[in-house]
Amino acid sequence: MNETSDFCYLRSAENPFGAILPKKQAHISPDDRGFYFADGVYEVMRTYSGQLFRPRDHLNRFKNSLAAVKIELTDINAIPEICTQLLKRNQLQGEEVFFYIQATRGVWQRNLPFPPPDVIPTLYISVTPIVQPETERTQGIACITMPDIRWQRCDIKSIGLLPSVLARQAATEAGAAEAIFVRNGVLTEGTHTNLFGVKKGVILTHPLNNHILPGVTRTVVLELCQLLNLPVSETPIQQKDLNEMDEIFVTSTTWEVVPVISINAIPVANGKPGAITRVLQKAFQDYVARTIK
Ligand code: PDD
Repeated sequence: MNETSDFCYLRSAENPFGAILPKKQAHISPDDRGFYFADGVYEVMRTYSGQLFRPRDHLNRFKNSLAAVKIELTDINAIPEICTQLLKRNQLQGEEVFFYIQATRGVWQRNLPFPPPDVIPTLYISVTPIVQPETERTQGIACITMPDIRWQRCDIKSIGLLPSVLARQAATEAGAAEAIFVRNGVLTEGTHTNLFGVKKGVILTHPLNNHILPGVTRTVVLELCQLLNLPVSETPIQQKDLNEMDEIFVTSTTWEVVPVISINAIPVANGKPGAITRVLQKAFQDYVARTIK
């Protein structure tokens, strides 16, 4: 199990300047709009050997999420420094961790319109050591498909994750590690991963639009494909074509590149991690070794 560490960062109505404090002392009002309405957005960013991985991509995505829901957070650029402080306070320098960063529209009486402008957004950041998903990476995972009942702005990293919670629970009950959403016959993405397929040597993935999150790992994988001269087509995978796929894999910040060996208990190709998936797993780790000194 991943367990968050003792010290977190919280800036809230009660503590408008923000502080690193023991999680037990971090109090958030029940009137927080995150609690009432899931009126907030989040970001997940990781380290390798104590260094943030692609922080600019993550912070830009966080800025885009905030702008899309009109939450004005004036201290976004302070986040990398807060993360560094959190590593120190939790004595996790040098370890591989992920930061969970959440902003909500703050504390106000329960009422749908925005609160007055002097209500400050709540900003919460925690840090969690990463349990390496070794089995998933080496052996691959089983997935199920689920109807994509999420809203039409999956490009925003909203904290409203009920469809993902329900889909992931269904996966767990089916003995699978991830649920892949299907919208109009098309595989969009996983509950917390982007989806790729390989068909006749071409790497397929859903194009960036309102139906998927623009994953940072997805971006890195596409950059690596270009570097390795692997042909890519940003074309979604149709559910009806699943039996023609040679390989499937998913990507995320904590998982990196994970092979999918079955979907709805039907093996993907021969039911083993594919060769191009292996090439990209290695290329990803080489990229990390090159960029993290
Ligand atoms: N999830 N798609 C969805 C719906 C996601 O929630 C995520 C990330 C991704 C992959 O994005 P990235 O490569 O930037 O991690 C795709 C994070 C890790 C989470 O919710 O825990």
